[in-house]
Amino acid sequence: MVTYAVIASGLIVLYLAAKLYVRLQLSRAKHRSLAGHSRMARRLAAWVPFYEYDDARFFQADSAPPEVVAQRRGAFTRLSQLLESRAKQTAAATSGLVGKVSDLDFTSRYRVPFQFSGYVRRHFKTGSFLESSGGVMVKDLDGNQYYDLTGSYGVNVFGYDFYKVCIERGSARVRDLGPVLGSYHPVVAYNVKRLLEISGLDEISFHMSGTEAVMQAVRLARYHTKRTHLVRFCGAYHGWWGDVQPGVGNPVTERETYTLKDMSEATLKVLRTRRDIACVLVNPLQALHPNAAAPQDSTLINSSRRAHFDKAAYSNWLKRLRQVCTERGIVLIFDEVFLGFRLAPGGAQEYFGVRADMVTYGKTVAGGLPIGVLCGRGQFMRRFREDRPADICLARGTFNSHPYVMGAMTEFLTQLEKGPVRAMYEGLDVWDERATALNERMAAEGLPVRVANLSTIWTIYYLQPSRYNWMYQYYVRAAGLALSFVGTGRLIFSLNYTAADYGQVADRLVAAARDMQHDGWWWSEPQLTNKSINRRILKEMLQARWASVSAGRPSARRPAVPPIGSINSPRSKNSGALQ
Ligand SMILES: Cc1ncc(COP(=O)(O)O)c(C=O)c1O
Repeated sequence: MVTYAVIASGLIVLYLAAKLYVRLQLSRAKHRSLAGHSRMARRLAAWVPFYEYDDARFFQADSAPPEVVAQRRGAFTRLSQLLESRAKQTAAATSGLVGKVSDLDFTSRYRVPFQFSGYVRRHFKTGSFLESSGGVMVKDLDGNQYYDLTGSYGVNVFGYDFYKVCIERGSARVRDLGPVLGSYHPVVAYNVKRLLEISGLDEISFHMSGTEAVMQAVRLARYHTKRTHLVRFCGAYHGWWGDVQPGVGNPVTERETYTLKDMSEATLKVLRTRRDIACVLVNPLQALHPNAAAPQDSTLINSSRRAHFDKAAYSNWLKRLRQVCTERGIVLIFDEVFLGFRLAPGGAQEYFGVRADMVTYGKTVAGGLPIGVLCGRGQFMRRFREDRPADICLARGTFNSHPYVMGAMTEFLTQLEKGPVRAMYEGLDVWDERATALNERMAAEGLPVRVANLSTIWTIYYLQPSRYNWMYQYYVRAAGLALSFVGTGRLIFSLNYTAADYGQVADRLVAAARDMQHDGWWWSEPQLTNKSINRRILKEMLQARWASVSAGRPSARRPAVPPIGSINSPRSKNSGALQ
């Protein structure tokens, strides 16, 4: 009897030890940053108190001396006047939407770190309207022309005129059918054939956004492997569906997602040992900044942003990942919604020389219209089981395979095979040369700005510890360059940029940095380091927290929920000017 008890306890101990070992391996495969610990990040985000800088602190957040503060103040006023006088109609149209368009309210608020945001919004009246595009330029409602570096969230690979033609010709192809849904227009057959050739996979499904294509890929992987968990890499964006976007920004706690370290042995170990992993999602754009989220200026609180692309190292990582996934029956999904067709006609699979089990495309592939595409191996794409008729995996969508989207896609895929587009891919190395040359120019002029790039996707980083790097986006705008709301975190060039176009952009980036340096924003002293900036911000937060606790404000405990009757009350006057 006693012997049985000893054996049973021994087995329990062994079982618990094995469980602990597996759990420890999982912990070791998490990135040590907050991006690697989504629950902790969400808790911390909920704790961060609101406070903002008043007029005095706005210009002296780094304790710069009075003469530098005066310099900054003068420059800020000049910049504010320039932006306001130059684009009056655009700014007026934009302010008309304040408090009415949630997306605009959000993006205007999160262009710069929150401590500076209110002041910036009150003084910089930049607009969110454009009237036309042509070549590599966009024009606002006041007739100002800007070199476009927004890339329309990555959609614009070949230049806006290319997409105008795709949409026009595509619409002409399907005009007789019009918006009839449920049946297919004949152009669909061509799209299917071409996309399966490009992806090297067996089956396809069409969706309305990249987010949906990713949702379907993960759902199918779970269905076919009968396993629960997906693995995504720290910092990678895959759309805004909760399971692939754990942590800050998602109010729900993820249950079946592991966020693991990119390019890490510890991650491979987890993939080799756990039995609950259905799929691994890879966004190859992370090659530019493994384990870090897409850079945006609202998080640019100091100068620690860095990026660097090493093609050989990332290709090697993908090959090893491929091997482990094959060994363990894990579905390897490449999310090429952003990168597909930007690096090579065959997408990231071709560029990095690795094949996935499923690939998602989106953004550019429908010639400028909304789209998500999933291509996959036949065994993973099927939505039913031959031997279990009731066990299905459902996916629908009213607008899937919309004739106009399919028509524009046909144009896109047709052009992709033609000489002029092929020629654009051949010159892609020039983007590395341009980035190197720009860095050399910045260095030669003693400017603390550098760029890192993955082909035409660039990010700007800063060498000089500073609280004000985010100001550079406004100098860049003033110089006639259009940026998206993430500011200098991401510049996206289209492949139709000529040497002369690019030359203009480079000159303006240098001139903008020169002006910003001249205006004192990069003032420095030896004690000003990224660490000292972090410490100071933490102190400010603790003070703000303490101040609200001692004042007994509800925000110090939990945000107050407005009574139902008050939900439609007049809007707060503080909703701010828009950008
Ligand atoms: C890699 C990747 N996957 C998915 C998505 C989501 O696509 P969509 O915005 O079309 O839903 C994006 C969007 O930026 C993306 O970059």
